[in-house]
Amino acid sequence: MHVGERFVSAPGKAILHGEHAVVHGKVALAVSLNLRTYLRLQGTASGQICIHLPNIDTFRAWDVAALQPLVSDRKGGTSLVERLRAFAGVAEGSTDSGNMAVLAFLYLYLSGFAGEELTLINKWAFQGEKIIHGNPSGVDNAVATWGGILRYHAGKITPLSRVPLLRILLTNTKVPRSTKLLVSGVKDKINKFPSIMVPVLESVDAVSRTCELTLREMATAGASAQQYDTLEELMDINQHHLSVMGVGHPALDTLCRLTLAHGLHSKLTGAGGGGCGITLLRPGNTTHPHHTPVLHTSSVRSAGISEHTSLSLNAALCDDISISLSLSLSLSLSTQC
Ligand code: PMV
Repeated sequence: MHVGERFVSAPGKAILHGEHAVVHGKVALAVSLNLRTYLRLQGTASGQICIHLPNIDTFRAWDVAALQPLVSDRKGGTSLVERLRAFAGVAEGSTDSGNMAVLAFLYLYLSGFAGEELTLINKWAFQGEKIIHGNPSGVDNAVATWGGILRYHAGKITPLSRVPLLRILLTNTKVPRSTKLLVSGVKDKINKFPSIMVPVLESVDAVSRTCELTLREMATAGASAQQYDTLEELMDINQHHLSVMGVGHPALDTLCRLTLAHGLHSKLTGAGGGGCGITLLRPGNTTHPHHTPVLHTSSVRSAGISEHTSLSLNAALCDDISISLSLSLSLSLSTQC
């Protein structure tokens, strides 16, 4: 590693229960996944700052000298985000993931690059979330920062220390969606039908709390088949609630139907409207060494933000690749979603 180069990584996340309800003050349970995002920071002498995000096909470069004035230039009382939008040519309302990532990156870059203190990283990540999602609960940045399994309630984060090792199948329906629009759609529905939607949110809250209790019992007394039954029923109940909130999608219905045909229970995870779904795997579920790109099994509870040397980075990458290659279930969802 030459001077000025650093490798860091953060885990992926899935929400077990409580997405959307968490935005309205209810409990959510979020887990970190060993599907990590890696970042290499490298010093350059070109006078440019470059961002390469190969997974979302985004490669951009700017002159540092052109960026710096944006911090102090408060023309017309505009905010830094507005100035950056104009600078980077990102239209207001754009939901393109490359544009959103560029905007969040420039904002964080210009707001100053600090040390790796986790509370600070979490705070900055939350700012990034705000740019991308509008009104985020804070659960995503928290679980990506600290890892593990977190209970998130009205801004209060509690790591769950006594939880069993769970395995889930993560399926990307590859249906694009905007978290921002979905969150605001749920808000509109609550405003339009408060007497119908508030009990739905209360019920999701109860699902999260029941799941938390069940996980604690499983960790304390050992996991039983009945407890897995309970976890599966909770997933079914929550999936129906999320459909009632208007964030379902035919591809997610297909996922639930297909996995159920294999005796497995699924729900959407995150904002819904497409995106990803999770399927709970029981300890005895068999897997095949057949690679299907949209499927990935993962043990929940990965480490939070980590810094790597080149050696440990290679090991971590090999680990991720072998997990995705060897543990994918051959359910062939990609063609049917
Ligand atoms: O779609 P994702 O993975 O960014 O998750 C969004 C989760 C919500 O509860 C819908 C929003 C939030 O900020 O908590």
